[in-house]
Amino acid sequence: MRMYDLISKKRNGEALSREEMTHLIEGYVRGEIPDYQMSAFLMAVYFQGMTKEETAIMTQLVAGSGDMVDLSSIEGIKVDKHSTGGVGDKTTLIVAPLAAACGVKVAKMSGRGLGHTGGTVDKLESIPGMRVSLERDEFFDVVNSTGLCVIGQSGNLTPADKKLYALRDVTATVESIPLIAVSIMGKKLAAGSDCILLDVKTGSGAFMNTLEDSLALAQEMVSIGESAGKKTAALITNMDIPLGNNIGNSLEVIEAVETLQNRGPEDLTKVCIHLAANMLYLAGIGDMETCLAKVKESLENGTALQKLLEMVEAQGGDINVIKDVSKFEKASVVKEVISPCDGYITFMNTKECGIASCILGAGRETKDDEIDYSAGIVLKKKTGDKVTKGDVLAVLYGNKEEKMQPAEKQFLSALKIEPHPSVKEKLIYARVTIDGVEWAD
Ligand code: URA
Repeated sequence: MRMYDLISKKRNGEALSREEMTHLIEGYVRGEIPDYQMSAFLMAVYFQGMTKEETAIMTQLVAGSGDMVDLSSIEGIKVDKHSTGGVGDKTTLIVAPLAAACGVKVAKMSGRGLGHTGGTVDKLESIPGMRVSLERDEFFDVVNSTGLCVIGQSGNLTPADKKLYALRDVTATVESIPLIAVSIMGKKLAAGSDCILLDVKTGSGAFMNTLEDSLALAQEMVSIGESAGKKTAALITNMDIPLGNNIGNSLEVIEAVETLQNRGPEDLTKVCIHLAANMLYLAGIGDMETCLAKVKESLENGTALQKLLEMVEAQGGDINVIKDVSKFEKASVVKEVISPCDGYITFMNTKECGIASCILGAGRETKDDEIDYSAGIVLKKKTGDKVTKGDVLAVLYGNKEEKMQPAEKQFLSALKIEPHPSVKEKLIYARVTIDGVEWAD
């Protein structure tokens, strides 16, 4: 089989067979197919797309290119959750304890932040002592004893995705719906859970800026999951506005704890309740109404917060900072961002808000950059709010005085303040399953 023929076949819009796809992925991982040929193939996919069958086959090959985690020694139904990424998205820190408090097992491998989006592993590491790299047996023991454990991805999970993603990143082929679906679902299938809930973000802070693209991605991923025998569903949620009020690592852990104490922001609380209820639903705990009621109960009676404490303790983290969030290390430089005029906030470019937080030190530009865990932004006003000249719009936190002004400039450039309010957007747009799309009211 010649790689040249596979490239020209895809360039001409034809579908590759399982045998051809196997040659492609396995050959690339073994180093037998050079980057320049794989780049040409990826660009052909970018323009021609892939059939459902090709996408499912490629995902299975990517999943099987490294370790396939076998979670069978963990009792109960294991449910994974994945967000396509956003700004202020601390949902895993809330949803995993909520689901575990209601009886499903969450054995989750999460990622680090890159670019303007945050990552759960970085957020967890802002808790002093927290270990996010556990050997397999310890990972399983923590899930069996507490119901949940969240760690970083093991070294040999989906090596094909690592190579392909790095190549896509430098060949302008990231923004391809089938390639994103293969990349995300390859990792999810390798991680071994029985059910997968996807949180597909849409809007200015998300990978997919339009509802149409987010829906297509959700449908593609649900179809891959189901064809691999996993119960899979997706919620499409709003990322045209940061989720909650806090952006930045320890600031987001603090907000997650407050949310589990049932005193979190309304938007974050609502999204988390629905995500967790959908995880229970996939696990077969009951109908949606029952699942929603169970999740709300675990929020109100403190059992979900207790789950977070158990997980943090089992992973070596200092539970005193969770019990009393004022004990988190504080940023040494604090600056208020003041409204320059009267009006209503009609738009927050969410990616730009995330970049402002990165300027303060909360994110990394390259993989090797160090993170400042206490850096970030606390929003005091959001889209829809009325503001008066002189009001505090947000508070910036960091440890480098010289970063405050550029971050403030960046943050202000993300906001649109106009004389009239804009129409309020939905928080949850739709639920996608293999049976179809349910649009939210
Ligand atoms: N996240 C992934 O894991 N892969 C992609 O291709 C895009 C987002």
